Amino acid sequence: MPVPMLEILPDKPALVQRGLSLVVETIRSAVANQGYCTLALAGGSTPKPLYRGLAAQDLPWEKIYIFWGDERYVPVDHPDSNAGMAKAVWLDRVPIPPDHILITPTLEDDPPAAASQYEAMIRAIFGGLQGISPDEVPEFDLILLGMGDDGHTASLFPHTEALTVSDRLVTVGNKGSDPRITFTVPLINRSRRVMFLVAGADKQTALAQVFAAGADDLAFPSRLIHPHGELKWLLDQSAVGNLDLSSATTPS
Ligand code: 6PG
Repeated sequence: MPVPMLEILPDKPALVQRGLSLVVETIRSAVANQGYCTLALAGGSTPKPLYRGLAAQDLPWEKIYIFWGDERYVPVDHPDSNAGMAKAVWLDRVPIPPDHILITPTLEDDPPAAASQYEAMIRAIFGGLQGISPDEVPEFDLILLGMGDDGHTASLFPHTEALTVSDRLVTVGNKGSDPRITFTVPLINRSRRVMFLVAGADKQTALAQVFAAGADDLAFPSRLIHPHGELKWLLDQSAVGNLDLSSATTPS
């Protein structure tokens, strides 16, 4: 299992700029090597300027497939929608084919059914791209993740059932009583590359626990993420504070 590659950037703009260049590099490399790129987006506020920056890039848009690692259970036009945010600042401004943008279904009053439907959507795309069998876990080229101040990632919240779901790609996460649709740990950990984007002093306490030897994985779910591919943490200095991450390794 690879040791995570940590990069500590002086501030959030520098983190966003570094993240943007790594996403562009990953997209170009994947398209050059295999003719397409599959990318799962993080929600929340941190990645918004990165997505805005992608809108100004010259990329092979018709070769890119976009998914969401998690989504709030709201319509796309709701202010809390992760898809709505990415569409507004990026996806509605570039010529990615609409059927390459896999928006999480959130309109029916049935989150478990929505999770199953999204899983079927993912399998249909990867079946076409990679010919995966129904029991295979698809391998994304890049999954972007954020981390909450409680150590959650995607919609894998502390001490929730979603953390231990291992027989599906997508499940229902719960932020308190709010349902979310989220990738499962096995799907995230199958990715060729996972990149965390973490900025802000409010993340310090959780970050310390994520990298503390022996801390509780279920209390700090970002500890569960150790992909078979590359793991990169982009952190800004305010998130790191006085933490000594020089010998940081992901929990085994
Ligand atoms: C979401 C995200 C969530 C987010 C973290 C960090 O739907 O909110 O997927 O996991 O990445 O909560 O959010 P910020 O970037 O806003 O701090």
